[in-house]
Amino acid sequence: MSEQLRYDGRVAVVTGAGAGLGREYALLFGSRGAKVVVNDLGGSFQGEGASKRAADVVVDEIRARGGTAVADYNSVVDGAKVIETAIKNFGRVDILVNNAGILRDRSIAKTTDQDWDLVHAVHLKGSFKCTQAAWPYMRKQNYGRIIMTSSNSGMYGNFGQANYSAAKMGLVGLANTVAIEGQKNNIHCNVIIPTAASRMTEGILPDILFNELKPHLIAPVVAYLCHESCENNGSYIESAAGWATKLQIVRGKGTVLRTSIDEKTISPEYVKSVWSKVTDMADAEPVVEIARASGYLLEVLENLKEGKLGGIEDTFKYNSKDLILYALGIGATVKNGNDLKYLYENHPEFSAIPTYFVMPALMLSLTSNLVANALPSGNAHLSNILHGEQYLEIFDDLPTSGTLTTVGKVFDVMDKGSGALVVTNSDTYDKKGRLLVKNQSSIFVLGAGKFGGKKSPIAGVVPIVPAPKRNPDSTIHYKTSEDQAALYRLSGDLNPLHIDSDFAAVAGFNTPILHGLCSLGFSIRAVLAQYASNNPVLFKAVKVRFSAPVIPGQTLRIDMWKEAKRIHFTTTVVETGKEAISGGYVDLKDTSAKL
Ligand code: NAI
Repeated sequence: MSEQLRYDGRVAVVTGAGAGLGREYALLFGSRGAKVVVNDLGGSFQGEGASKRAADVVVDEIRARGGTAVADYNSVVDGAKVIETAIKNFGRVDILVNNAGILRDRSIAKTTDQDWDLVHAVHLKGSFKCTQAAWPYMRKQNYGRIIMTSSNSGMYGNFGQANYSAAKMGLVGLANTVAIEGQKNNIHCNVIIPTAASRMTEGILPDILFNELKPHLIAPVVAYLCHESCENNGSYIESAAGWATKLQIVRGKGTVLRTSIDEKTISPEYVKSVWSKVTDMADAEPVVEIARASGYLLEVLENLKEGKLGGIEDTFKYNSKDLILYALGIGATVKNGNDLKYLYENHPEFSAIPTYFVMPALMLSLTSNLVANALPSGNAHLSNILHGEQYLEIFDDLPTSGTLTTVGKVFDVMDKGSGALVVTNSDTYDKKGRLLVKNQSSIFVLGAGKFGGKKSPIAGVVPIVPAPKRNPDSTIHYKTSEDQAALYRLSGDLNPLHIDSDFAAVAGFNTPILHGLCSLGFSIRAVLAQYASNNPVLFKAVKVRFSAPVIPGQTLRIDMWKEAKRIHFTTTVVETGKEAISGGYVDLKDTSAKL
């Protein structure tokens, strides 16, 4: 074990050190070179009476073991007097363990003002007064170690201890601020949450526990927290029976409640609709600093002002299996050695086919009422919507697993007569707030038109671009499998339209149809293979219009035209000669092809 931790030259004030835990702290400090002020009022555990005996006995014990100690009989409420004892006798104060305490347990109905006030006075005010009195000395010497004593009753609550648990939680708040104010002067403040056998817990803890919960098992934890080598500041440490752990306040990811900077967009109904996200703790993270906590809020506000936020937020988790399933769903195959990097997680270049990243936006759309809420009729459901157009643009490296956040909002709504066209924009970020991809989806809602809306898109709706008039520069054929939709849907779009004949009939199709985004995936594979050496990193953006359905099992013909770094393409169903994707193009960052 490393060298013994010593406290030579240090002066430690331990309040309530005449018994229980405080006594053990005082004995340990005394045995390791500290000069100890043994403070104790010496009253009953309910805070009645006073006696010098409690403190004197402990002082004698320390001295008998060769240590240095003086007694202080003041109440901690007179903190200045307690600290004065340290200054008068030893000239300084380095360590302050605020430990003194009493109990006046009553149910809420029976708690008197005196029960409330006395408990708060000893625990909360007493700890503050001692800290305040020690403060100027600690600041001047640029050193201090302060402990606040909280309790499980404060952290977790306990029947019959309203006064005590409130005071004990108050000490956590006090410690938070003392830690912040002391930081620049090397004054650290930490919280101990002990459980130990003492006169306070006698009769409360079961016998079998009581006998094991020896107070001296906690003293080393407090002693270390008060050593100059301990860097913790503002930590909460729970300890009992020779066990210790850190406790932390965690905060969920939360969700933005405003759909724009306009405050009127917040309503109780909206709060209710997103309550599960407000209370979702799946991605909770510790709140370590108030500055960071409010920094985040400022960021949210800034983003709202710039129109970056607002809208529905959704979390999207994925891993290598999801990427592989998607790759299989759009026809990647081990028969093509070049595809192995999409199908095998241990491949040195394992990567996502970039169009996988339409999924976060799609899932947000499917799990929210984004589209329906944009329509006067509110009538959009799985059997009356069709994917009209899709735009995807990549902004940063695409991780092969992670948890992403997508913020989606309705960007434009058009009245096309036979239906409404709803355009949504979704931006997807990683955990660090890096923008990874932008998606724009146009959803055609059958039968939702004729509401008197405009026909043309606003600026910002990405248009399709017709292919050049010449013959295609290259063509690739891919045959889809009869199970293509059955496989592809496992990537997330479970709309029965793609697998259930009865449902397809209701939606007006003779047979289940392939997902438009699946045909898009096949087409992207063709473009990457032909013009980017199948290198996904070269992919920048894609835009398509889904103009006719594809039936699983049909063959796709992808015709491509190269215009600098833009590859125009159309995707046609060979069996019917009908164009399934029109006006499509892929923008590459670079192209491997000479043509
Ligand atoms: P204890 O009753 O054995 O020791 C507390 C000491 O504080 C007593 O010697 C008492 O005379 C002294 N004291 C009371 N009022 C005072 C005042 N106004 N000024 C100066 N001294 C005063 O109790 P124990 O168990 O050792 O508790 C120590 C601290 O740990 C307390 O703050 C208590 O709330 C806390 N705690 C104890 C737990 C346990 O399981 N024992 C659990 C959670 C917290």
